[in-house]
Parts: sequence; structure tokens; C-alpha cells
Amino acid sequence: MTENAPTLASDLVSALTTPAGGSTGPSARRTTGPARVVVDLDLPGATISRHLYGHFAEHLGRCIYGGFFVGEDSEIPNTRGIRDDVVAALRALHIPNLRWPGGCFADEYHWKDGIGPREQRPRMVNSHWGDVVEDNSFGTHEFLDLVELLGTEAYVNGNVGSGTVQEMSEWIEYLTRADDSPMAALRRQNGRDEPWKVPFFGIGNESWGCGGNMRAEDYAALARQYSTFVRDHAGNQVTRIAAGASDGDLGWTESLMRAVTNVEHADGKAGPYQAISLHYYTMSGPWSDKGSATEFTEDEWYLTLSRAARAEEHVARHATVMDRYDPHRKVGLVLDEWGTWWNVEPGTNPGFLYQQNTMRDALVASIHFDGFHRHADRLIMANIAQTVNVLQAMILTDPDTGALVLTPTYHVFAMNAGHQDAAALDAHVLLPEESAVIEGRALPRISASASLRSAEDTALISLSNLDAAEPRTLVLDLRGREVVGHTATVLTGASTAAHNTPEQPEAVAPVPLTDVREHPAGLEVTLPPHSVATVQLQLG
Ligand code: AHR
Repeated sequence: MTENAPTLASDLVSALTTPAGGSTGPSARRTTGPARVVVDLDLPGATISRHLYGHFAEHLGRCIYGGFFVGEDSEIPNTRGIRDDVVAALRALHIPNLRWPGGCFADEYHWKDGIGPREQRPRMVNSHWGDVVEDNSFGTHEFLDLVELLGTEAYVNGNVGSGTVQEMSEWIEYLTRADDSPMAALRRQNGRDEPWKVPFFGIGNESWGCGGNMRAEDYAALARQYSTFVRDHAGNQVTRIAAGASDGDLGWTESLMRAVTNVEHADGKAGPYQAISLHYYTMSGPWSDKGSATEFTEDEWYLTLSRAARAEEHVARHATVMDRYDPHRKVGLVLDEWGTWWNVEPGTNPGFLYQQNTMRDALVASIHFDGFHRHADRLIMANIAQTVNVLQAMILTDPDTGALVLTPTYHVFAMNAGHQDAAALDAHVLLPEESAVIEGRALPRISASASLRSAEDTALISLSNLDAAEPRTLVLDLRGREVVGHTATVLTGASTAAHNTPEQPEAVAPVPLTDVREHPAGLEVTLPPHSVATVQLQLG
């Protein structure tokens, strides 16, 4: 295949809804020809940080206990109490970071309760999640052990809501200091000589809500104060992440940006915090009835995907506010909670947030990733909520048998892993039909993104067919580089609600996509209905 170059403009009949201010969501342009995705292979953009593929594990339901941690005496094969099968599955995803211990739990967690001999650790009430008693058997050492087993990086979330500045200051000292300081000595006493690396530290969580019901200006002042005492010890460089807004609360982001300093000039580090978080969850109903994970209508399918696409809109809007205060983009945006939030599975504890995961969740994930890649210049990290047994999980474990199931979302993470630390490429979607408009926003039936690894002469293209019922043939119009080879993978299921269970663990699993043909413009691909595909290109 060789590069060909009809001009993009000649194919445009009209542009669909592109909200003012540029790219704030997936868009497609109209074309008189066949459906196409045009990729400029020779115009690399921002680096897609591997941290956009981050994870989140809270003391919530069966995420930590039963999910990651079963204890040394469990019949389930484990290493120092941590499930070997869960570690192996996540290592295969190359997860870049893990956020812990919350969430809402973070603002009632006192880290000193979770160190020392387990039988002597005090208990506490996990008031947010099921009102259960937490025995603190999984604490700081267990978490950092998990991080090392996973080969990932630690994102520790500190307590502002009910913790002191001293407590937070001592935690980072305990974790990262090398000499004989009081906290380093205490860590040694508890069996760990070497300090750990902790590159990310959260300054509270949802401080407008469960983290203390604070006003924006009040929290901004606290974020400055607490961040000051999260020191860089022994060469450990911390990115301090202030607890950010939810959804479209731009005022909260604005207050935090007003309080951040040293952003006027291109040189020097922003402070006292270097990043601001954002949370956005996808659901098809109101908070009081978010919808079933597995039983939904076609209308709910499209409504959900449209709401998933809104994550990109929120990222773009908050980034626009940040741009006003920080033109050099020194402060990072961190979407450290995202994903679907459904009604819990019937018969399970409502406080444990256990839900199934279908092809709809897979499409939600792929739509998020396409948006993340387009905003890689400001978005430095994203963490799906949550890794095991809670909300949009990668892994579900059976509480009785311990059986492990990989979800459709897991497979989307695996298929997209090649975008980590690659350079974003523009991927223009051109469709012959008008996009449906849902809640005032156009929802094209194709979502796409692409990235380039120059050193390896490879490119990865992600394609999602949002159509619930119809396959879609499209041309991959590949420009600017010669393509000398390709492989492709597809994920779909028998229905939009297809999902995996211990009885049918591979009902949804990736398989080679064979419906790929050479085309004068590049390749022609046929995507099954409700599917996610990746095409790996070898460039000449
Ligand atoms: O992920 C579940 C909860 O959602 C988190 O604890 C909280 O931060 C958010 O409201």
C-alpha cells in the first residue's frame, strides 16, 4: 500500500455539530463517499501518557478484600495474601498506576491504623461503603507490596476531610524517606528498609462532598496548605493532585486554578499542587435509578454511549478554564474517577457497588480512550473506577468459589495498551449519514483514534462501531507514510448486553479481525455491530 492524497476538504459536504471552542467531543463530518477514517501518519501530536490507562482500588465492597487481598491462609493461590491470578491478569494490561485507598474512604482513613502487626491494628467503620467494620489488615505495606507485584506506580490519596496536616506530612515521610528520620525508622521497625517511590499523591477527594462538604475557596486554601507539607524526600518527586470537580462544575476548577502559583512563566514547577482532578461517571438514568448493567433497551444503549462521549466534553471545558490561568500547561488535569455506574446486581449489598460488565461497558471505555487521546496535551492521568469487583471493573471474582472473570472492559484496556506513551495522531471520521442527536449532542456511529510509535515504525488505530445492530464497512484512509503490513483484533458479543460469567468466561473475548482488505487509500475494514477493533500498522 502506498500513500495517496485526495484532499480532505474535497470530501466534505458539511460539518456536523462541532461545539464552539474546538474539539469537545467525538465528531464526524459528512462525506458523499463511503465511510472513512482519515489518519495522518506523518503528523504526530502530543504524547499519550501511559497514565491515561490508570486504575483505582478503594476499600469498597469486594475490591480490596476478596478482590486483591485474600490473606495468606486462603486456598486461592496468593503471595503474602495478594491473589496471584489478579496480579497476573493486571500485569498483562501493563497498568501504569494504581490509586488507593479511596475515594470517599480516603478522607476517613488514618494510615497509622494500617501499619504494624495485623492483629494489633485498630478497627474502624467504613461509613461510606456498606457501614462495615474495616480491620485495617490491608494497609500501607500491603498496598506497596501490591504495587511492586504489579510492576506499577503508586498513587496514594491522602486525607484532608478528617486528617491533619501532620498526618499527611508523616505519611509521605514514612513512605519515601531514606535516612533515620522518625517515620523512616518506624517503617524499618515494621519490616521495610528501603523507601518506596510514590510519584502521585492526592490532597483529599471530592472535598465538595464526601471529603468534607467544603466550599471551593475554603478547600483551595487547604489544598495549598496540605500540599506544602507533602515533601519531596530522598529524590522522590511527587505530583500533588488537588481534589477537583465533578462533571461540569467549572467554578471549582476555576477556584483551584486561581490558587495555584508559578504558572505565568514557562519555566519552573507549578505549586503548591501540580495537578487537579476531575470525576465523571456514565449512567443511563438519574442517581436514584442508574439503570441495570445487563438489561437495557436500544435507546438506553445510545443514551449511555452519548453520555460516555460527554467525558471528553468535560475534559475540554475544564481544560479551557485551566488554559486561561496556566497558558504553559504546567498544571495537569487528572480524570481519576471515570466509568459506568449501574444499579448493583440484584441480591448484592447496595453499599458494595458490584455490577456486571457488558459490551456496552466496552464501548464506554473505547469512547473514553478516543477522547483521552485527543486531549493528551492537558490530560496527564485517568483512572477507571474501579479495578476489581466495583463499578466498571476489569476483573470480577466469585465470592463463593473465588473464580475470576475478565470483563469486556478488561479486553478494551488490553487492545488499547499500545497507545501508552505513543504520539497521538489525528483520526478524522467521515460518514455518509447524519449523526443522531441525543440530549442535544451528535453521536456519530463510529468513534476512532490513532497513535504512532516512530521508533518502531508502527501505528495503532482504534475503531468502535457504536451501531447496536448493523455492521459497518469503512475505508481507513492512511496518509503520509507507507504501510507495509497490518494485523487487526476485534471484540464483540452475541448482543449488546453480552458479558462474561464463570460459566461462560469467553462469551466476550478478542479475536483476530479477518474482515480487512487492501484498498487504494489504505485498508477497507468491516466492523461487526456493537464492536471495538484495533488495527496495528507496520510502516515502511
Ligand atoms: O468510586 C466510588 C466513589 O465515587 C468514590 O469513593 C467517590 O470519590 C465517588 O463519589
